[in-house]
Amino acid sequence: MRHAPVPFQRMLFVCINRRPEGEACCAARESEQIAEALKSKVKSLGMSGKIRVSKSGCQDVCAQGPNVMLFPDGRWYAGVTLADVDQIVQDALAGLTPSA
Ligand code: FES
Repeated sequence: MRHAPVPFQRMLFVCINRRPEGEACCAARESEQIAEALKSKVKSLGMSGKIRVSKSGCQDVCAQGPNVMLFPDGRWYAGVTLADVDQIVQDALAGLTPSA
């Protein structure tokens, strides 16, 4: 094993977990589309080298989803919709400068 500094300044984890029919889960509320929209927005801003959007498994707050968590800020976005994508990316951009 080796270790190194995390290669991104911000990480957005988007839960895409799917539970059986009838159980609350993020995937049933468009979280995969939200993840793709976040990735697309970050890329369009030239910030892919600094902000990583990662699909995650269950974050254990299923009923409040779709859930997105921003690190290292420690911010949890619950009940996210596609309309929130720009705001979440704006928050993730705080203090960062565009990639060269
Ligand atoms: S299914 Fe997303 S938090 Fe559990």
